[in-house]
Amino acid sequence: MNPTSYSPYRNLPPLAGISTFAEAMQPGLSVEVCVARLKRHHWAFKRLHGLFIRRLTAEPIYELKMAYSLHAHYCAEHAATWRKRVGEMREPPLGLDVVPNEPLDIYFDELLAAPTTEALLLGVYGHALPALAEALRLHQSETNRLVDHPSFRLCRFALLEVDEMIDYGRRAVESLIPPELRLSLDPWTTNLTQLLDQAGGLGGNRPAAPGPVVRLTSDEPLVFDPVPRRDERFPDPYNMGVHAEVFLYDESFPPAPKTLMMFYKRLREIDVPEMMASIIAETPGKPWEYSVDMTRQLWDEARHAMMGEVGFLHAGLDWRTLVRVNFTWSLALNTQLTPLERHAVLYFIEQGLMPKTGKRFEWEVGLASGDDFSALIQDYDWADEVLHARIGRDWYVKQIGNAREAVEYGDRCWTKVLIDWESYLRDGKTRHENWWPELYRTWCRDRGLTPDPRIEAYATSYQTARADLQEIGSSA
Ligand SMILES: [Fe+2]
Ligand SMILES: [Fe+2]
Ligand SMILES: [Fe+2]
Repeated sequence: MNPTSYSPYRNLPPLAGISTFAEAMQPGLSVEVCVARLKRHHWAFKRLHGLFIRRLTAEPIYELKMAYSLHAHYCAEHAATWRKRVGEMREPPLGLDVVPNEPLDIYFDELLAAPTTEALLLGVYGHALPALAEALRLHQSETNRLVDHPSFRLCRFALLEVDEMIDYGRRAVESLIPPELRLSLDPWTTNLTQLLDQAGGLGGNRPAAPGPVVRLTSDEPLVFDPVPRRDERFPDPYNMGVHAEVFLYDESFPPAPKTLMMFYKRLREIDVPEMMASIIAETPGKPWEYSVDMTRQLWDEARHAMMGEVGFLHAGLDWRTLVRVNFTWSLALNTQLTPLERHAVLYFIEQGLMPKTGKRFEWEVGLASGDDFSALIQDYDWADEVLHARIGRDWYVKQIGNAREAVEYGDRCWTKVLIDWESYLRDGKTRHENWWPELYRTWCRDRGLTPDPRIEAYATSYQTARADLQEIGSSA
């Protein structure tokens, strides 16, 4: 029979609509070749995840911190997907944590050790991710869509987010890297191209180029920098001059101005990704699911910070001039505690958020304020904690052994952290300026309201009130 004379029943689309008969008769890729390529895609996502995590704490630019948080989340999820797919086709050991190709691994070492933010942006978004997209597209076009449909489909989903990351990076490069700087980074990006040629392309689909493999920036393994950095819109990062929680829980104050304190609390959550990145970066040897869960939570915390940013914008307030967002929590935890102790503190604080006085209360304040946007973000800020509690139970409590000891250990770790209001003042790091009255007055003025003198005079800092409200006077 001539295949062209064959057609499905009453001309229905053939083969469940995934390909033509002609396409389905193509040789495609053997399982062995397919698995080898998937392992490289997996390696790329895994290394990119590690890179975003290891660079976000010390990256000063807030927008990039947020983007790295999202892109780390994407990469963790896609790496998990490829691990699962390889496991569907091969018996263990799957060899997923074995370097699939030396020059390819050095390529990612070089990216991780990029000498500047600009080099990192060019390398990751202008080089690695486009190479990954090309490898995924090649897999889609070369594999037999019928026999390897599960991989084809995963490539399709991965490309949605790889393309989104590339688009973000293109715009970031346009904004941050003038042509002359780009030119000066040419030797570095040229070496990246060379390394990828020596790897036979990211997917390993072409012959490997000969020649010695050169490390320009990664001779020494990168030491994770746990010290958070911020850009110039955070000029007073030790400021602990406005105690948000005391105001929020004071029943004599009305709900509407409390939304401003909640926007501040959300925006201050920038320090949670900064801190969680340090736990992930400094806790080796965990199953990949640990990275997936912890990075999802990290991204949620980044989202909460951006919800605060949008909250201020929605209220017509410029947080850059009216608010002082500090980093004292992430700085103290990252530099004073071990990774497990940091996780313990995070768990302890988040446990304190679940009862009536925590996230539910903030949502109720949002509802009562009449500001629908405040209610909306508090609704999700609360909902996200349900997942975070599960992640804490799975990865922290299980390691400690039992729930009570897990909370007590968190309490002890949190108690020993030194966030020292007095010494920041004494050392001239901040004057703990009370930024509240000006924020409140601006908010009233924009709404044609007369400021309430009692609210305007609010001047409780974290100097004395911290001890009583220790568990809520913090991020998360
Ligand atoms: Fe939050
Ligand atoms: Fe959380
Ligand atoms: Fe949080």
